[in-house]
Amino acid sequence: MNTTKIIAHRGASGYAPENTISAFQKALEFNVHGIELDVHMSYDGYLIVCHDEGVDRTTNGKGLIKDLTLNEIKSLDAGGWFSKKYSGQRIPTLQEVLDLIGNKGIFLNIELKSGPIIYPNIEREVINVIEDYGLSGNTIISSFNHYSLLEVKRIKKTIKTAPLYMAGIVSPWKYARDIGADGIHPYFYNVTPQLVKLSSDNGIFVNTFTVDDPNYIKYVIGCGVAGVMTNYPDRGFSALEEI
Ligand code: G3P
Ligand code: CA
Repeated sequence: MNTTKIIAHRGASGYAPENTISAFQKALEFNVHGIELDVHMSYDGYLIVCHDEGVDRTTNGKGLIKDLTLNEIKSLDAGGWFSKKYSGQRIPTLQEVLDLIGNKGIFLNIELKSGPIIYPNIEREVINVIEDYGLSGNTIISSFNHYSLLEVKRIKKTIKTAPLYMAGIVSPWKYARDIGADGIHPYFYNVTPQLVKLSSDNGIFVNTFTVDDPNYIKYVIGCGVAGVMTNYPDRGFSALEEI
């Protein structure tokens, strides 16, 4: 039986505005195994779930999250850009998302968006929140900023980390071990059966992003990845059935 986990990328963001409560609800409706989301920090120190460092693309507002207060962020419409039907969706805080998904038994992949904008202490703040919700054993923290993952491990060794990368790492399982990570999160172009096998032989899991084409979803599942992040979780489940 295939054990690859289907991870809703920014929620089921093919069907509802990314990183909003509606996208996370949709992911739950698909019975996903895991949810990926992105975290930034507001001017007044709140953990804000949003992909971009600014609000311009996914809301009717303007500016960088680091320069906006929670009140200012909450005044924005984060759904109308996607479809009129979702008008009125708000950008959620990390806590608001965990209020929805925290007790559903699915795992969480929090991507720390630390760079090029650096949020002081974001690692500590995120760890505090996931510990408050009793989710530290069920969370993977990932980032393209691998220094941030070193900081996570310095604060709490038992929280799983996984470096994100687009290309160009030779023997990434060795690299992962060097930085004390538990897994790797490569862009799917880098995934091969050998990569997955050698990683697994070295105790390193592989979750890959962001795979929406059904043929590529089948391909990475066939390579044996632990998890596949997709904006269309139903395509992931169909692939699991077809393989
Ligand atoms: O965590 C996987 C993937 O989300 C990384 O890229 O730009 O979609 O956050 P991005
Ligand atoms: Ca992400």
